[in-house]
Amino acid sequence: MTTPRILVLATGGTIAGQAGDAMRADYRPGQIGIETYLEQASVLGIAAEFTGRQIANIGSEDIDASIWSRLHAEIDLAMRDDSVDAVIVTHGTDTAEETAFLLDLTLPSTKPVVLVGAMRPADAVGYDGMRNFANAARVAGDAEAPGRGVLVVMGDRVHSARDVRKAETRATEAFRGFPRESVAIVTPSRLDWFGAPWRVDDTASLRFLPLPEVPILAIYAGMSAAAASRQLSDDPAGIVVSGVGEGNMPDPVRQVLVQHARRGALVVRASRTDQGLVDPVPDDLEDGFVAARALGPPKARVLTALLVANGISDPAKAQRYFDER
Ligand code: DGL
Repeated sequence: MTTPRILVLATGGTIAGQAGDAMRADYRPGQIGIETYLEQASVLGIAAEFTGRQIANIGSEDIDASIWSRLHAEIDLAMRDDSVDAVIVTHGTDTAEETAFLLDLTLPSTKPVVLVGAMRPADAVGYDGMRNFANAARVAGDAEAPGRGVLVVMGDRVHSARDVRKAETRATEAFRGFPRESVAIVTPSRLDWFGAPWRVDDTASLRFLPLPEVPILAIYAGMSAAAASRQLSDDPAGIVVSGVGEGNMPDPVRQVLVQHARRGALVVRASRTDQGLVDPVPDDLEDGFVAARALGPPKARVLTALLVANGISDPAKAQRYFDER
């Protein structure tokens, strides 16, 4: 096997974070530059040739449209560059699922793209970043990785972008997948895939375009129509409902949302529960709503914004994108 040539795009996060003291509880994400990081990684003896590029050096709560746009453009170029075999993106864990899913929906799947983060800063006791990075390199360099879309490596688990979410605030094993828990288990020396690649075509699902503002409406017991209306007063082109149970909401709130659907907004029902399917119900047809299926609110928001940007606001057409696996 030839040595894989991996482009590493660094955005910051805890994987590049430092506290200045191994025992401190607080720290700053995005402190170590990519050149220094790759120098430190070189002692691990990873069988890969790395090129690093710094896209940003921030906590991922500050990821914005311009960083997404730059990341997308760099990876798109790498897909067509014969001197690059795979891409690793180092990223903060807070919004890794959104970046991964956005890239998954808008890039071809011909070369592996792997997002990796860490839960402990680089100078903490039990830093997980180098282990995760070595695992990510193992995945990125694997001949069976293409055709699986964007992957997220945390610990020894490999998740697909569509399934993954951050489910805990502090644990090193903070990520879960739903409905597929993980698609592979990895160590720096071994990789076991569960199942064959599922992305059979080489094209992206949707074009990467500037995203409209799509709010998430958080539903709670006793929410009034006035509270919902206030939050939607600027008539967004898309709305994701973080509903109770299987994407439910009080009837007065539902009526507000029906009005938004009638004026052409794409209204998507997701669930505030940690995981589970939100399936279409007969009322959705009449209300003009879409069911988020397995996507939780943050990822349903990414897909809704992309659909609107691509001119897809018809509920039946939009539903097909939520039904995809
Ligand atoms: N603020 C967080 C972020 O960059 C740090 C957490 C992390 O990277 O794990 O997402």
